[in-house]
Amino acid sequence: MPSQAVFNAKDGATYTTSSGAPVGEPYAAEKIFPNGPLLLQDFHHIDLLAHFDRERIPERVVHAKGAGAHGYFEVTHDISDLSCAAIFNAIGNRAKTTVRFSTVGGESGSADTARDPRGFAVKLRTEEGNWDWVFNNTPVFFIRDPAKFPHFIHTQKRDPQTHLKDPDMFWDYLSQNPESIHQVMILFSDRGTPDGYHKMHGYSGHTFKFVNKDGSWHYVQIHLRNDGGFKTLDDKTAGELSGSNPDYGIQSMFEDIEKGNFPSWSVYVQTMTPEQAEKFRYSVLDLTKIWPHSEFPLRPVGKLVFNENAQNYFAEIEQAAFSPSHLVPGVEASADPVLQSRLFSYPDTHRHRLGTNYQQLPVNSPIVPIANFQRDGAMAFNNQGNRPNYQSSILPLSYKPKAYKDVKHEQFLGHALADLTFITELDFEQPRALWQKVFDDTAKAHFISNVAGHMKNVKSKVVLERQLSVFAAVDPAISEGISKAIGHPGGVAPLKVKPASEAIRFKVNNS
Ligand code: HEM
Repeated sequence: MPSQAVFNAKDGATYTTSSGAPVGEPYAAEKIFPNGPLLLQDFHHIDLLAHFDRERIPERVVHAKGAGAHGYFEVTHDISDLSCAAIFNAIGNRAKTTVRFSTVGGESGSADTARDPRGFAVKLRTEEGNWDWVFNNTPVFFIRDPAKFPHFIHTQKRDPQTHLKDPDMFWDYLSQNPESIHQVMILFSDRGTPDGYHKMHGYSGHTFKFVNKDGSWHYVQIHLRNDGGFKTLDDKTAGELSGSNPDYGIQSMFEDIEKGNFPSWSVYVQTMTPEQAEKFRYSVLDLTKIWPHSEFPLRPVGKLVFNENAQNYFAEIEQAAFSPSHLVPGVEASADPVLQSRLFSYPDTHRHRLGTNYQQLPVNSPIVPIANFQRDGAMAFNNQGNRPNYQSSILPLSYKPKAYKDVKHEQFLGHALADLTFITELDFEQPRALWQKVFDDTAKAHFISNVAGHMKNVKSKVVLERQLSVFAAVDPAISEGISKAIGHPGGVAPLKVKPASEAIRFKVNNS
């Protein structure tokens, strides 16, 4: 092996094998004669190729394309009456954060400006462990029955035979599952094509619980409002950027942070008491619904700032593992079935995508020491030294659980139900308000043109008319506008649904 060490011009490091031995010529391979053959003893060369062969890890099954950065969350207002989480115990408390923004349906090389919801995932490193906000840029979602998630996602991805995205599949699903209409209305407005990743709002979507030491608790929804407002692109610009610069979102955020134009958000909560939840018109466990701000105003909490680009994208962003189940004392999940399913799904996919010890990777590792009984497994970097690997008498219990009383708002009935929600007139009220009261004439025109641009490619008349009937149930003007734009004769009757009075309202199951 050549003994002359090679230095990297940038950082002055010596070029070495993965085991640390200096190597003189990175391109050289050991051969018997100048034309070969190669020698198996050449660890440098074999290791180089073998490691290269293993460079790829699975991309995220959803949200594969993303961009990220680091920053901080700072508490600006006292909400210690709502939650005993340590991060909230003083104004000015800060947690270091890592964010990953993403599109949902495309692969890791897909365009940043695709019409799609955006993921907005933040890891807050608190002194009580990591608290992950695994949010989207929309306040509602397509489903409220978790078993629909894989079906729904498959219809947004590629057809098993053609390996193409298929508008028939897309609208076939949505038209048969009209609880998606609220999210569809947002997706096909210009909010479906945000201007990059760092100029949009974020929403928990789900209801969580903030719990206090005395056991009192509130339902909460968390809102991240971009200080510069929610900037969007029109369909044409977004489409052009998909071709000319598919990495527009990654690039514009990276460059803004490098220039010191740090994106920031004001963090708010909406709160609801258990009693208010029982009287609320919609179920707080149904994430196809919003909580009207007029009834549940935004209460300021803090500031979120991203002021540092990653030095190494793979290590600091791609390997980040966010999960809604990474909670801290004082914050709990609600019984929302979609949220409950997510509590399982994320750590499960992380074990597959990153490995058993994914929590030990530097980006995921909490700032507090880990002391548990998980040991060994592949890549156990922090195997907890000589600490006993079972609950032993020499292990002091340093943490006393905070005094939670009853934080349950539901009582398990002792039998399991295989249950599925159904559609009522209640599901159309908020989408209708969006169309009639929130969208102005320009927003309405963009919406019709955005939907028409997608739906004109649907081949099946059944699928097309079923979705038109869903739009007609929101407002016949939508269905007629789309029909006209795609050359359909129109006159499709609104979808018939049960009256609002038959909707299953949220109530405590204590009977
Ligand atoms: C990513 C499952 C609903 C937000 C993911 C991933 C899975 C998943 C498996 C990949 C995670 C990874 O590889 O690290 C599910 C399931 C859902 C659901 C089973 C419903 C039953 C939602 C909802 C939201 C959401 C309602 C937002 C309110 C996100 C975000 C990411 C993500 C932001 C990307 C996280 C990152 O950047 O690493 N989801 N998801 N998901 N999901 Fe969901």
